[in-house]
Parts: sequence; structure tokens; C-alpha cells
Amino acid sequence: MVLNEKQILNGISTLIITRPIECKHMAKTKIIGPFSQLLTMDTIPLKGSVNDSQLEIIPNGGVVVSEGIIVKTGNFDQLCSEFRDLEIDRIEKDMVGMPGMIDPHTHICWAGSRAKDYSLRLAGKSYLEIAQSGGGIGDTVAKTRAASTTELEAMLTQRATNHLKNGITTIEVKSGYCLNAEGEIKMLEVIRNVNQKLLVDLISTCLAAHIKPADFEGSPSDYLKIVVNELLPEVMKRKLSKRVDIYIDEGAFTKDEARIYLNTAKKMGFDLAIHGEQFTASGVSLACELGALSVDHLELVHDHEINLLAGSTVIPVVLPGASLGLGCQFAPARKLLDTGCSLAIGSDWNPGSAPMGDLLMQTAILGIFEKMTIAESLAGITFRAAAALGLTDRGILRIGLLADIIGFPTSDYREILYNQGSLKPSMVWKRGEKVSE
Ligand code: NIG
Ligand code: FE
Repeated sequence: MVLNEKQILNGISTLIITRPIECKHMAKTKIIGPFSQLLTMDTIPLKGSVNDSQLEIIPNGGVVVSEGIIVKTGNFDQLCSEFRDLEIDRIEKDMVGMPGMIDPHTHICWAGSRAKDYSLRLAGKSYLEIAQSGGGIGDTVAKTRAASTTELEAMLTQRATNHLKNGITTIEVKSGYCLNAEGEIKMLEVIRNVNQKLLVDLISTCLAAHIKPADFEGSPSDYLKIVVNELLPEVMKRKLSKRVDIYIDEGAFTKDEARIYLNTAKKMGFDLAIHGEQFTASGVSLACELGALSVDHLELVHDHEINLLAGSTVIPVVLPGASLGLGCQFAPARKLLDTGCSLAIGSDWNPGSAPMGDLLMQTAILGIFEKMTIAESLAGITFRAAAALGLTDRGILRIGLLADIIGFPTSDYREILYNQGSLKPSMVWKRGEKVSE
């Protein structure tokens, strides 16, 4: 049966599982292809280890897209005869297609540089020592507070555009570098404004509980009370973010402080994430206790916590960029997967612990050190990363999901990670709209 455009549009309303969060620009109905190989990332479980043989690979593949949503995937020639009148985004070269990458953990709204911290680290100082002597997160807080909205928007726009060009079509972005009500609102407004301006989706997270700011005179729990009473209601009322994150560690917040804070945030309707097990333990158990969406870092996670995670719905998000930036061990990705956990990978792109911001390169490096299969690595930056953000509408090339698609200039999907991040996507479609070629 040959469907015309109207029939496709009528049909699609019943196919859509989750509509995009905001109504951004969406491409009209068309066929994209042919891809030498189309990796759908469909049929792979959310949790546990995966073999490359489990990857669904469509040779000579194509995707039919309407209004930014996938209508069908399959053999390109068959799609062309089935949907005869449609416009074609024709690919003339070898190209491996897959879902747009998703970065579930960044701090890319910041001002200033921490190159000085880096030189101190090379001289043997620890992250905590540098923070205690005037560098660290506190230094970025001073610079970000001083930056105007326009300046912050320009810097965020540049970083987000760079990520999109490199194939990351959804980016989580945290606040947490102003640490007072006015400044945190400023950051969340900047993220909202840039999200509205760019094709890439920015998912904001309120990280007012990053550390207690140096100019706050009370205790850490007094600070968290102010955040709960003065900031979170405003964030919720103005729909500036649906997500709350807290950093549990020495020099940040304790598990008990975090429990009270996150419980209140949960009652207010926020989704929860935790920075946990970076240098000290206790984030994982709290994440499982509270049903957080994710617990992120995990460089120091122990077997007991890994077992807890495997039996929970919490998605572990590992951050190889922070290990590379700080010269620390990687989170035990292999062990997490073998124990039955899900595993997402984030760049943690920030001015301190992870200034590189190259998610694909970090994924490739983590993969070779931790002996992850290509399927596990790609799942970690597509639908498993979407799950860490509570998103079910992307990360897989499947009917009814967002047409966020990237193409690598090669005919063999193994080349993507084999090239250790130096092979970048040469084509990116966001909601079916061609972003770059
Ligand atoms: O995820 N460890 C806490 N927060 C960030 C680092 C932020 C910074 O150093 O500016 C992280 O690594
Ligand atoms: Fe982080």
C-alpha cells in the first residue's frame, strides 16, 4: 500500500508515544537514507550486559520522518516504493546512522576558567585541597555570579552548539554555579532561553545543592532549608526545571542532609538525581531509598551498592571525563553491567573536573579500559542515557519516537568507537531537521 502524506499524518497521531517537551521546529514528512548500516538500538534491554550481536542493524536502511517523529524504519528502497511521493534527504556516501547521542550529565552553563586548578592538580594537589584553598567550585561560582545573562547565554550557546554538531541531540544542563536564589534562577533562565533558541534539547536540573557557598554563614542544612523555602517553589512555579540534584561528598553535603532535602523536593514533584560515590560513599543507597532517576559518578562504588543498584530502577551514570580530568580511576562499568545494572555515560562537562566535553571520545576510552562492548557503549549514550533523564521519547530509532538521527561517514558501525572519538558524525538531524552536513 502506498500512503500519501495526509494518511501518514493521520496515522502518526496514534503512533506517538510521547510528544516532544516543547514545540520546537519539526521537519516535514520525508525519507532519510540510504544508510549503509542503520543501528536502531531497538530490542536491547535497559539493564545488564549486551553483546554486539544483539544490535539491530538494517543494511541499506532508511527512516521515514513526519513532524519530527519517526514513522517507519526499514530497507531504504522498500520505503521509497511504499512512500512514493515523499521528499528524500538522500545520502550519497557511506554512512552509518544511529540515534542522536544523549548527554545525561553536564554543567555547561559557567563563566571563567579553572586552568589554575589544573596546574595545581598536576603539581599533586587534590580536588578537595584545591577547593579548600580558594579554587574549585567556589571559584566558578564567583565568576558565574558576576557574568551577565547575555554573557552566560553566549557561552552556553557555544558549548551546546558544539555538542549538537558532534551528534549530541539532547543535553542535560545543571545550574549550581551561583548558589543563591537570584543567581540560580538566572542560570535556569539562561538554560531555558538557550533551549528555546537552539534546535538541541537542553534538559535543565537545579543543582543549588552543589556545595554550601562560602558567603553563606549558617550550616549546610540551614543553606538547604533556604533553597527549599525560597528557591525550589519558584523553580516549580515558573517551570524552570523538573529535576533536582545534590552533591554528596566531603566538602559538599552529607547523606542525612541530602535525605531531608531530596525528600522535600520529591514531595514538591521534582525528579531526583544524586552526585554520589565520587570520593566517598552513600549516594547510591540514598538514590535507591528515594527512587532517584539516576546516581552519577560512582568511581568509588562498592559491591554492596552495585547489588543495590542492580535491584533498583535507578540508572547509574558514569562520568569518564571526570576520571580523565582528575586522574582518578574509572567507575567499574564492566562490573556494574555484569551485575545487572543499567549504565549511562555522561560527559560531566564542567570547568573543573571535566573540561574536555567530548562525550564520544570519553565513551571510547572508558570502553577500552572497562572492556565494554560497542553495544553497551552506544546504549550508554542513547536510550540508557534517556532513561537516566526519565525520557522515553528518544534514544532509539523506533516508530513514534523523536527523529533525532546522526550519521557517521563510514560503512561499518565498529569504526565509530574504534576511532576513539576522532570520527565525528558528518550528518545530524534533530526532530528530522537537518542540522549539519
Ligand atoms: O560532577 N563533583 C562535583 N561536581 C562536578 C564538578 C564541578 C566543578 O568542579 O566545577 C562534577 O565533577
Ligand atoms: Fe557533575
